[in-house]
Amino acid sequence: MKDAGRVPADLVDNGFYGQDIISVSQFDRDKLDYIYRVAHEMRVLVERFGSADLLQGKILANLFYEPSTRTSSSFMAAMLRLGGQIIPINNVQYSSVTKGESLPDTVRTLESYADIIVLRHPEVGSAATAAHYASKPVINAGDGVGEHPTQALLDQFTILEELGRVDDLKIVMVGDLRYGRTVHSLTKLLVNYGVEFAFVSPEILRMPDDVLDVVRQSGHAYTELDDVHNVIGDADVLYVTRVQKERFTDLAQYDRVRDHYIIDEELMALAKPEMCVMHPLPRVNEISYAVDDDPRAAYFRQMRNGMYIRMALLASVLGKA
Ligand code: NCD
Repeated sequence: MKDAGRVPADLVDNGFYGQDIISVSQFDRDKLDYIYRVAHEMRVLVERFGSADLLQGKILANLFYEPSTRTSSSFMAAMLRLGGQIIPINNVQYSSVTKGESLPDTVRTLESYADIIVLRHPEVGSAATAAHYASKPVINAGDGVGEHPTQALLDQFTILEELGRVDDLKIVMVGDLRYGRTVHSLTKLLVNYGVEFAFVSPEILRMPDDVLDVVRQSGHAYTELDDVHNVIGDADVLYVTRVQKERFTDLAQYDRVRDHYIIDEELMALAKPEMCVMHPLPRVNEISYAVDDDPRAAYFRQMRNGMYIRMALLASVLGKA
């Protein structure tokens, strides 16, 4: 974490200036409220004007060691819509990483050209390592099976936009809770609110103990079960995840669980009329296409919210919001 030094007079002292965004544990309710308020303003800005020049002259290095469509392009779009520029490194196989360059050296290189670095990397803890070596702010865009804090922020922002509140909701998470980093971060973020959790997965894909520990220590009620039918009728939020094929060492095991859950119209008929279905995307098979037309299907709106949240984060960390 960077030292909270003095904020220059022409920049906004918002508690985020110059800071890394590595984990959701950095956020309390005040900080969350601030980011959601700014994200809301970013939505209005984009809808009215398309873009602004808030980050003119600033450069973002977008460094992705793992595949990405939404996270990578929404960070780029966010920077461009705020008038900044980007150095996109999505194909590390064409960079000096292939020559054996270490993550600290790559990060030190990019920060000599850019003002902020967004990093996705397959190893848990990689974003913290990069932040340790960098003097410019680093934003974690997913560190292996660890965390995905900006996704959790956009997920929670979506719950607020869809349902108007977060407190007193029943949050049902379904699918690969073991390897899915989005559900790890979202759970750790939601313990700041009065929610109840149900974790639905096959036995081998249960929520890891370190995440359950956070839930237990915060005094929240949760249940773990295998059958989504038993809980869908109580859900305010049904958060569906992809089985993370790339994390399995035994593909036969993946084949046994890949289609364990398929959310379809029949299942949706059991759900409340006021609820929302979310998914970080990409979807493989776990939500049937017929559900896309259901007004409760929020996943495409959720995806768009990612750009507003990332605009809010970039502007805040660079002291312009
Ligand atoms: C997620 C991820 O990369 O963890 N995708 C995303 O960022 N929207 C979820 C996934 O890949 O299944």
